[in-house]
Amino acid sequence: MTEDLDKLTKELNERIMEDMRKIYSEKVIDYFLHPRNLGRIDDPEGYGKITGPCGDTMEVFLRVINGRVAEANFMTDGCGTTIACGSMVTELVKGKSINDAGEITRDVILENLGGLPESEQHCALLAANTLHEALKDYRLLEREPWKRAYRKV
Ligand code: FES
Repeated sequence: MTEDLDKLTKELNERIMEDMRKIYSEKVIDYFLHPRNLGRIDDPEGYGKITGPCGDTMEVFLRVINGRVAEANFMTDGCGTTIACGSMVTELVKGKSINDAGEITRDVILENLGGLPESEQHCALLAANTLHEALKDYRLLEREPWKRAYRKV
């Protein structure tokens, strides 16, 4: 009985994966099933939070050391694609200077993920916009460090 159930579960999982492969690249599936850099960073040097038109929210946390992104994490309440995009944007930005980090766009994320269906490309835009918000926050705090005292993250 348990063996039958195990076999059935395995078959079902294989079918789900087969269906996913028809829509998504291996990279998207991998980054969705095994998220990278998920979680908060305490007292980050850069922080961004954006809710997209679909109602999903993303947060990006940056640890910046000597003008370079040493660590980048994200949080989201969004779908699997959003998780894949958050994983990718945080992977791409690590090690970059603040200026180079600003060059990460929706299209760069899409290219590195091996593409997304058109109806889900806005998830990559949400990830890019949230990163840019975190970079803006970093620049603002560099100019006006006292504002850090009023931050809630
Ligand atoms: Fe809302 Fe992906 S469906 S960001």
